[in-house]
Amino acid sequence: MAGSATAMPRLFFCAWVCAFVPLARVLGAPNGAAVESVPGFSGDLPSRHFAGYVSVNDTNGRELFYYFVESEGSPATDPVVLWLNGGPGCSSFDGFVYEHGPFKFEAAADSDSLPKLTLNPYAWSKAANILYLDSPAGVGFSYSQTPTDYITGDLQTALDTHAFLLKWFQAYPEYQSNPFFISGESYAGIYVPTLSRNVAHGIKAGVKPVINFKGYLVGNGCTDDQFDGDAIVPFIYGMGLISVDMYKSAQKACNGSYWNASDPTCLAKLNDIYNDVEEVNIYDILEPCYYPDSESDSSRYHSRLPQSFRRLGETKGPHKIRKRQFGRAYPLRLPLRAGRVPTWPSLSHALFDSENVPCTDDRIAGTWLNNAEVRAALHAKPAADIGPWDLCTDNIIFYHDAGSMIPIHRELTTSGYRALIYSGDHDMCVPYTGSEAWTSSMGYEVTDQWRAWFVGRQVAGFTQGYANNLTFATIKGSGHTVPEYKPAEALAFFQRFLSAQPL
Ligand SMILES: *[C@@H]1O[C@H](CO)[C@@H](O)[C@H](O)[C@H]1NC(C)=O
Ligand SMILES: *[C@@H]1O[C@H](CO)[C@@H](O)[C@H](O)[C@H]1NC(C)=O
Ligand SMILES: *[C@@H]1O[C@H](CO)[C@@H](O)[C@H](O)[C@H]1NC(C)=O
Ligand SMILES: *[C@@H]1O[C@H](CO)[C@@H](O)[C@H](O)[C@H]1NC(C)=O
Repeated sequence: MAGSATAMPRLFFCAWVCAFVPLARVLGAPNGAAVESVPGFSGDLPSRHFAGYVSVNDTNGRELFYYFVESEGSPATDPVVLWLNGGPGCSSFDGFVYEHGPFKFEAAADSDSLPKLTLNPYAWSKAANILYLDSPAGVGFSYSQTPTDYITGDLQTALDTHAFLLKWFQAYPEYQSNPFFISGESYAGIYVPTLSRNVAHGIKAGVKPVINFKGYLVGNGCTDDQFDGDAIVPFIYGMGLISVDMYKSAQKACNGSYWNASDPTCLAKLNDIYNDVEEVNIYDILEPCYYPDSESDSSRYHSRLPQSFRRLGETKGPHKIRKRQFGRAYPLRLPLRAGRVPTWPSLSHALFDSENVPCTDDRIAGTWLNNAEVRAALHAKPAADIGPWDLCTDNIIFYHDAGSMIPIHRELTTSGYRALIYSGDHDMCVPYTGSEAWTSSMGYEVTDQWRAWFVGRQVAGFTQGYANNLTFATIKGSGHTVPEYKPAEALAFFQRFLSAQPL
């Protein structure tokens, strides 16, 4: 009798522990967040997907939308990585649809039908649990019931995304112990360090839940108005898009400083340079520009481009490269500045006097995400409530109010957080020359001298490693949105960085 009395609780305890551990992984997600089916995709999902809203300000009804893709490897131990697209004003479904999401999207023959989805062999969810977030409110599927929330800036955005993370980890407690990383591209070169700083300060202040933050990745990211602004002319020259004479006379007239030029001779020389490259695809200088009003496919290409050039940017990657994109940073004539940042749709209106956004081809994402069935499957509010989904919105008024990111990078890297600053080396929008220069300017000891890095036996790009776990890397032949242009190479550096291996 006595024996069985002591055996009973032990048995219960064991049963409870054994049942609790696997159950916790299922029960942690909020009710109704699981994505049961993905319209356009038939077959079983390779991992579980969850999507929905998290309120970051209950008074105002400010709701941020996320789409969470569990790792296709070991979700319980693989890192959780937050992904942010830039703009400001661009949805992170840009990354989901065109870059490293779980699916490849193939347009239907009939443009009103849903695209066909197949699995992406280079999805970042092969290596990590990926959390796509539409931020700030007003972007993508995120919204607020208080319209004044749509006037925002760097600092408020970082406060909101930090509040989002704390609530998200509360709702998904099984992921609190996984290593956590923050990633993004273009204007997210501002979002990533500002949010990382808030997360790091929160950890220091004992904010709960504790986020197991390890480091961050920035791709072709805006960082500093002087470094980024001064990088473009040397890039254009180095790529052979202007003559030696044009470069030398601009250098002389501008005294080697272009970012805040005011001298009339200097401005005239810069104008010559910008006019010269105006019709080159800013996001990948090797890619043709897409002209939406042209009928035949061949007439989309700029007439000055010889036939042989039109295929240069094609890759063996699983995604079709958009002929031209917009909305991830600024055009050449509008370098990063403190103060109000124009959104791309508003710019297109002002500069091109057009309802159509010039040179864009975001139709697959637009068709899919504006379909009522898709929105319901993803738990996004219907268009009747929050309007249509746009790749980049001009619903927000956004201020760059966080200054240069360089001091923030210094604080984070000297606090032990690892950083990978990567750059597609054919992007003219936020060219690698600026990222290379500012990382070098940190003055950290070089621990891994400039060298090629490889995928298989092929050179995938070049890298230089610094003390404090700061790594700079180029991706050879890639445009602005690296995983879109070079998916295999992107998954390779992503995996190596997360597991703290050298590239
Ligand atoms: C909600 O946002 C408003 C405006 O940004 C702010 O004044 C208020 O303090 C916020 N409330 C909470 C609970 O964070
Ligand atoms: C040009 O730059 C040099 C140093 O880089 C500086 O000493 C000089 O004053 C500058 N000249 C003008 C006209 O700005
Ligand atoms: C940038 O140029 C403006 C106008 O020429 C000038 O007032 C300002 O001081 C410059 N800023 C810096 C940081 O040099
Ligand atoms: C660099 O990263 C590794 C792996 O996360 C860590 O063990 C090490 O302490 C870091 N070094 C510095 C200087 O932060």
